[in-house]
Amino acid sequence: MFEGLINSLYIIASIFFILSLGGLSHQTSAVRGNILGILGMILAVCGTIAAKAVDSIGIIVAMMAVGGVFGVIVSMRVQMTAMPQLVAILHSLVGLAAVFVGFANYIEPLQEYEGVEKVVHEVEIFVGVLIGAITFTGSVAAFGKLQGVISSRPLMLPARHWLNLIIAIVCIWLGAEFLGSDHQSGVNVLLIMTLLAFVLGLHLVLAIGGADMPVVISMLNSYSGWAAAATGFMLENDLLILVGALVGSSGAILSYIMCRAMNRHFVSVILGGFGTTGGTAVGPIEGSISEINVDEVAGLLSSSDSVVIVPGYGLAVAHAQHPVAELTRKLRDSGKHVRFAIHPVAGRMPGHMNVLLAEAKVPYDIVEEMDEINPDMPGTDIVMVIGANDIVNPSAQDTPDSPIAGMPVIEVWKAKHTIVLKRSMASGYAGVDNPLFYKENNRMFFGDAKDSLDKLVAMVD
Ligand code: TAP
Repeated sequence: MFEGLINSLYIIASIFFILSLGGLSHQTSAVRGNILGILGMILAVCGTIAAKAVDSIGIIVAMMAVGGVFGVIVSMRVQMTAMPQLVAILHSLVGLAAVFVGFANYIEPLQEYEGVEKVVHEVEIFVGVLIGAITFTGSVAAFGKLQGVISSRPLMLPARHWLNLIIAIVCIWLGAEFLGSDHQSGVNVLLIMTLLAFVLGLHLVLAIGGADMPVVISMLNSYSGWAAAATGFMLENDLLILVGALVGSSGAILSYIMCRAMNRHFVSVILGGFGTTGGTAVGPIEGSISEINVDEVAGLLSSSDSVVIVPGYGLAVAHAQHPVAELTRKLRDSGKHVRFAIHPVAGRMPGHMNVLLAEAKVPYDIVEEMDEINPDMPGTDIVMVIGANDIVNPSAQDTPDSPIAGMPVIEVWKAKHTIVLKRSMASGYAGVDNPLFYKENNRMFFGDAKDSLDKLVAMVD
């Protein structure tokens, strides 16, 4: 009867999680999706700690209180621009938890297994620890790159793919040894494999260049899901298996979509940049730039009919979403055709720009995807590039050696005029110079994006 109740809670929680993912697929339903996810998680946690196997509720509640307080403090303090790092470090904890659960489960099994069941259980442990360890160090490396603690340049060790292959083969061999071994040597084998998997996870992510980090983040998201699913098998917890599989498969689908959006090969990225050279540094660009001041920008805008705004990471850094929404409102009120162009990897996390624009209440129907808006660029009077750089870099199309070669970009240079709002001539995330800034029809409007837009809003009627 009691087990039946818990199973019912798990089934309801699973339905909530599936509906939650459905809700998160669109801005208008995202809040509902989040609430359903929270409800599902509350039911899942209640069901788990109410299970018969749990005989130390006091410790669990105390740990949840500590973790909960820590989580609330971190989420209240974290800047929107630091969310990807937070996500990466949280993935690392999922991986580490899978490693700990695997070891605990092997050293002190919940029950004794015999024959085929024993083999299956040991495979679950081995695979769970392997994926967990790769996820742990891979996510720590991703955190370091996103936080700027580690260089975003790809680490190009000689024979690096051979190193990965050898580690993978040794891990498979250790897996075979693990299955037949007695308890003590099993622990040793597991320990050696864990250390090797730590190295593999670290190396796979360090070998990936900054420009491909968006894919890495969603890939690690997927790995953390599979690690959780493997933990679910070890603990015989159906809900954990289901949730892990949902996270694992949605992360894999997102990685695939992002690879397509960035014109990267999925397999190449998950194998630590297999088949790529990482690109060569493109030398500094020769040429001169033309600056523009706020009066001139206001003048250009007033004589334009169609305006496209391309937001990027700098918009998030400057917290400029509200003045840009106000500028949009004023321009639309004066009869201009204003639209936003969103690149799939603008900012530092999937949907970063959409979230900011939604927060500032920019209407959804004027926010368009890169593919929708690119054909309209030649007929656009003015494009305002606000804190964006890599996503509007023409060298992705015309410089085959560029680290971002092949990445689809918003073709702003095809418009009649472009204005770039940024603070300096510094490069973007991928560390490459941008020939757009030197084009004849481009003007640089230097300054913090929020300050510049505040001044502009005051000038535009
Ligand atoms: P970036 O290429 O990183 O360029 C952002 C620009 O914003 C910088 O050149 C910077 O120039 C400017 N900026 C910074 N603070 C500013 C401020 N307060 N006011 C005005 N400008 C400011 O950004 P992007 O064009 O959005 O491209 C995103 C990049 O991040 C891509 O390379 C992408 O692959 C990578 N990435 C994306 C993700 C996801 S999932 N979206 C995750 C990880 C990495 P100044 O310093 O001169 O102001």
